[in-house]
Amino acid sequence: LPVSLTLDPAFRVGPVRRRTFGSFVEHLGRCVYTGIHDPGHPTADEDGFRGDVLELTRELGVSTVRYPGGNFVSGYRWEDGVGPIGERPVRLDLAWHSSDPNLVGVDEFMRWARKADVEPMMAVNLGTRGVQEALDLLEYCNVRGGTRLSDQRRKNGTEDPHGIRMWCLGNEMDGPWQIGHKTAHEYGRLAAETARAMRMVDPDLELVACGSSGVVMPTFGEWERIVLGEAYEHVDLISAHAYYWEEDGDLGSFLASAVDMDHFVESVTATADAVRAHKKVSKRIHISFDEWNVWYQKRAESKPPTGHDWPVAPVLLEDRYNVADAVVVGNLLISLLRHTDRVHSASLAQLVNVIAPIMTEPGGRSWRQTTFHPFAQASQLATGDVLRVAIDAPTYPTAQFGDVPVVDAVATYDDDAGQVALFAVNRSLTEHVELSVDTRSIPGLRLLGATTLANPDHTWAATADDATSVLPQPNASAAVDGGRLTVRVPPVSWNVIRLG
Ligand code: AHR
Repeated sequence: LPVSLTLDPAFRVGPVRRRTFGSFVEHLGRCVYTGIHDPGHPTADEDGFRGDVLELTRELGVSTVRYPGGNFVSGYRWEDGVGPIGERPVRLDLAWHSSDPNLVGVDEFMRWARKADVEPMMAVNLGTRGVQEALDLLEYCNVRGGTRLSDQRRKNGTEDPHGIRMWCLGNEMDGPWQIGHKTAHEYGRLAAETARAMRMVDPDLELVACGSSGVVMPTFGEWERIVLGEAYEHVDLISAHAYYWEEDGDLGSFLASAVDMDHFVESVTATADAVRAHKKVSKRIHISFDEWNVWYQKRAESKPPTGHDWPVAPVLLEDRYNVADAVVVGNLLISLLRHTDRVHSASLAQLVNVIAPIMTEPGGRSWRQTTFHPFAQASQLATGDVLRVAIDAPTYPTAQFGDVPVVDAVATYDDDAGQVALFAVNRSLTEHVELSVDTRSIPGLRLLGATTLANPDHTWAATADDATSVLPQPNASAAVDGGRLTVRVPPVSWNVIRLG
């Protein structure tokens, strides 16, 4: 299939934001325990953190990490996770029907974040708790000293304040599954008051209000309107969460998941701007897409234990990702990048073991899932400004989204370095695509490299025994001639072309 793309610096959307490449560590399953923290592991450091996972986190190019949840945070008492380890309580985690020994809490997480070179994004519990407990955690983390909670932090071994700038005001409060679930009005008021009080401690915080847990939520749209109606003046961002999976063998719709993400971002943007118009203010609210990924929610591994079984760090949500999943993850990154004017932060949910690009065996091996590669490539190579790409492509019919272009793409352009990175997916299930890219508006570009991630069997998934048979491979068909890049890309593929 022939597909024409046009690159032009005039199509700038905004800067590439490092925070687009965030991730998420929740006290869920084996994400924390035997994920980032595994004191018995041969690579564990003095804090019990796995060195192999720290290394993979850095290689993945993660910028921010959201913590400690997720649904978990809505029943969490942060005080349980500080102070001498031997005195910390074991608690029931109602969200995931597990027990939490509280071996990792805010101080440990912050030590891990420093080692991983990531910015923390801390969530407060607005499910079972409220303004006071959020203020207490803020005082513990960010006040230098001389107060009860800041001095407690110092006594616990952290002399300098943690200095956490980004804070999530609860998690998925629109979801009936959430502990302490609220109506939009109830939550909007609580978010506004929590934000207002937190800013009295520190006016420079960046605060994220809960948006919708998905476009399929019955309250989608109305939730954002009401919450922002209450909290607009007090918050900076509103969250969005979306998970996608292949259902009933409908690969065509699954590969077009980014259509849904585009719709999500554009709808929330429109709603936020409508509130802005109504309030007659100049400030804009941006989007924190702080949970997104492929997640096979209907598989048994996604179901928490039941009854009297409250295990510590059970196997939960340990999806094994195939090549098609990686193509979808790449396409979702394309969607996030092309909305860089309004999406100011995003978190791939999650980082380790739980619907994650990094997998570990307790005490043993770690490996990269297929979805690791598009994330790592985009994080490393997207620099400068995001350019919207004009796409002229044939469409294919999907059950969920109607006719969808076979190719989706976005580019980044680093003026100073004179470099372009083009990220493109071929969503056709059967056809190779001949991409022809008009680059004449950026004269003098030469090919620096091209890679393709694909496999004749798109259901191939990495395992601990074989994580490397399918990796992004050099694409030898790429060529640049007279201001035109041409490259042939296989069906169900993720492609990165670098020019400079
Ligand atoms: O990421 C897994 C779960 O998905 C999170 O705990 C919750 O916020 C969302 O529903």
